[in-house]
Amino acid sequence: MVEAAEPIDLSDPTQGPSIAPDQIGEPLVVLTGVDKYFGDLHVLQHIDLTVHKGEVVVVLGPSGSGKSTLCRAINRLETIQSGTITIDGSELPSEGKALANLRADVGMVFQSFNLFAHKTILENVTLGPIKVRKKSTAEAKQRGMELLKRVGVDSQASKYPAQLSGGQQQRVAIARALAMDPKVILFDEPTSALDPEMVNEVLDVMVSLAKQGMTMIVVTHEMGFARKAANRVVFMADGQIVEEADPETFFTAAKSHRAKDFLSKILTH
Ligand SMILES: Nc1ncnc2c1ncn2[C@@H]1O[C@H](COP(=O)(O)OP(=O)(O)O)[C@@H](O)[C@H]1O
Ligand SMILES: [Mg+2]
Repeated sequence: MVEAAEPIDLSDPTQGPSIAPDQIGEPLVVLTGVDKYFGDLHVLQHIDLTVHKGEVVVVLGPSGSGKSTLCRAINRLETIQSGTITIDGSELPSEGKALANLRADVGMVFQSFNLFAHKTILENVTLGPIKVRKKSTAEAKQRGMELLKRVGVDSQASKYPAQLSGGQQQRVAIARALAMDPKVILFDEPTSALDPEMVNEVLDVMVSLAKQGMTMIVVTHEMGFARKAANRVVFMADGQIVEEADPETFFTAAKSHRAKDFLSKILTH
């Protein structure tokens, strides 16, 4: 059995270093009673989660707890069996053009750098804005170069993904997500596949995005990032949200056995 945690009260200024109450925006991503099964496996169990505009939520939890499925459900890469998911007040349509548009509002950066191998770095960043957002090629290129500069890879614009390091590719993936002007970006273990010396260059870009007010849901085991940039930590185990707290409270005073057990394992190496 897992212990139920008190939901965090975002209006309570005594709850650590979260964003100040007057900076909290409207609810942006709202999951209500979400259930997801893979066959008999109940992978998401009645998930209620609200992420507000400008908020950075770090999702932690042991392998297999449902973190990736949660991200994929928010982006409609997975269907859900019950409950609702809304992005900025609109429920996710199941298919078609409306889905493409809403999905474009939700950027996604995966663990594996899933850039298009046969397109240049700049093409990777301009493709979505041209095809989905209907921007002109010139406009998409100009914005694409600005974004590549922002993540520090503008000098690589005409190269192909395989010519870049993993850290550079992941920064391109972030620029590609930003190019769609998403309302929220989901990061699913964006640094897990990187060589250690490249982790920080990606985390630095993510921290600066967080500081600029981007709404972010980040699955990561990088505690430094959580401490530096997260307003809230959501801890999952066995398909449930077991505990939520601001990072300081979570790392120093986790309440549930599952969270304490998880922290004892990741903090000892
Ligand atoms: N496509 C799938 N088909 C069947 N089971 C899946 C599929 N994807 C994930 N699972 C299972 O769902 C559970 C949650 O997986 P996942 O969301 O990937 O967890 P996490 O990202 O926290 O490691 C795991 O038990 C996993 O094996
Ligand atoms: Mg995962």
